[in-house]
Amino acid sequence: MQKILFVCLGNICRSPLAEGIMLHLKNKYNLNVEIDSAGTAGYHIGEAPDKRTITNAKNNGVDLSSLRARQFDKKDLDIFDKIYVMDHSNLRNVLALAKDQKQKDKVSLFLNAVYPGKDLEVPDPYYGTEQGFEDVFQLVYKACEIFSSQFKTTV
Ligand code: 4NP
Repeated sequence: MQKILFVCLGNICRSPLAEGIMLHLKNKYNLNVEIDSAGTAGYHIGEAPDKRTITNAKNNGVDLSSLRARQFDKKDLDIFDKIYVMDHSNLRNVLALAKDQKQKDKVSLFLNAVYPGKDLEVPDPYYGTEQGFEDVFQLVYKACEIFSSQFKTTV
């Protein structure tokens, strides 16, 4: 079973959203994958996702309320098969902790998994409007729907 980790800055908006959506799709499609998320910063360790993220996801049928923030640790580069970061700043911060090329190769921008080579970021909604949270939800949900196909088991 593949172990994947989503990473953003605070682990209260984008990466827990990706984790929660993938857990939702794991239930829906019986995906063969283990999912977690973390933040490169330690500002929100132990906290639930941002209330605006929780409310928006709930309105779209995804429950994030049981998730709790944690900080990315260099051990994650040993534990996980793939690490999907939300933006270029996360990418630099995670790559800086990689001890060798094998670990560096595990790390990539999440949206490159579904829109290869485009180097797109998931925008940070934290300082924006309610609409920003909805836009990020739709972007991440669509990406996760495409991304999830690689973990579907055929019967
Ligand atoms: P996230 O958003 O990286 O998507 O969780 C943020 C959450 C908190 C902060 C910044 C971004 N902050 O500065 O506290």
